[in-house]
Amino acid sequence: MVQNQLGRDAMRALRAIPLFSGVGDAELEALSLLVIERRFPKHRTIVEEGAPGDYMYIICDGRVKVTKLSGDGREKILELLEGGDFFGEMSLLDDAPRSASVEALSDVRVLALARNDFLDLLRKNTNLAFAVVQELTRRLRQIDEQASSLSFQRVKERTQGLLMRMAKSETSDPGRRLTQALTHQQIADMIGTSRETVTRAIKGLKREGWLEQKGKQYAVPVEE
Ligand code: CMP
Repeated sequence: MVQNQLGRDAMRALRAIPLFSGVGDAELEALSLLVIERRFPKHRTIVEEGAPGDYMYIICDGRVKVTKLSGDGREKILELLEGGDFFGEMSLLDDAPRSASVEALSDVRVLALARNDFLDLLRKNTNLAFAVVQELTRRLRQIDEQASSLSFQRVKERTQGLLMRMAKSETSDPGRRLTQALTHQQIADMIGTSRETVTRAIKGLKREGWLEQKGKQYAVPVEE
């Protein structure tokens, strides 16, 4: 009964969602009878990391944040999502617990689709399945980019640590010490990365003014 009343509104909402742009009218109408409209106030947790997955959600109005707890208990924001975006699909697809938490950043209105209805729809509708795969690919690409910039940051930090530990002789610059300018390959072998990555890190550190080359020596800040 509630679902029938919602049918018309849901149909309109579904049409406006890019994910369903390739779904035909008849199927969209069937879908509009399956989705349940739900509202969550600001700050409410909609999906909890580690919980079993039951529904996926399509945002009609409002904004949410997708977060994950790191090993030291800090919250990392993975993504901010808004109207037209969807979430909660991963645990339905792989039958594993929720990968992250999703919290309302404002009052939020969503359409919720139960696991079996979502999976049936994907099996029947290749356009929809393709749209979901495209969105998952976009997220994976974003994570790859973050991981590579994070590991590059770590190489920079490890290079800094190594050079600071090795710098013993005093310079005329206050707060700086000198160390023999190792080859990039030597640094790479010592911190366990590739020569090319060290070359990029050294360039970056010079550009930032952290590292100065003085002939065959590097001047680096004194270790605190
Ligand atoms: P699920 O694992 O069911 O529950 C948490 C949801 O957060 C997950 O499905 C995705 O919809 C969403 N999510 C997890 N990781 C990311 C990410 N890196 N970017 C965007 N959304 C994500």
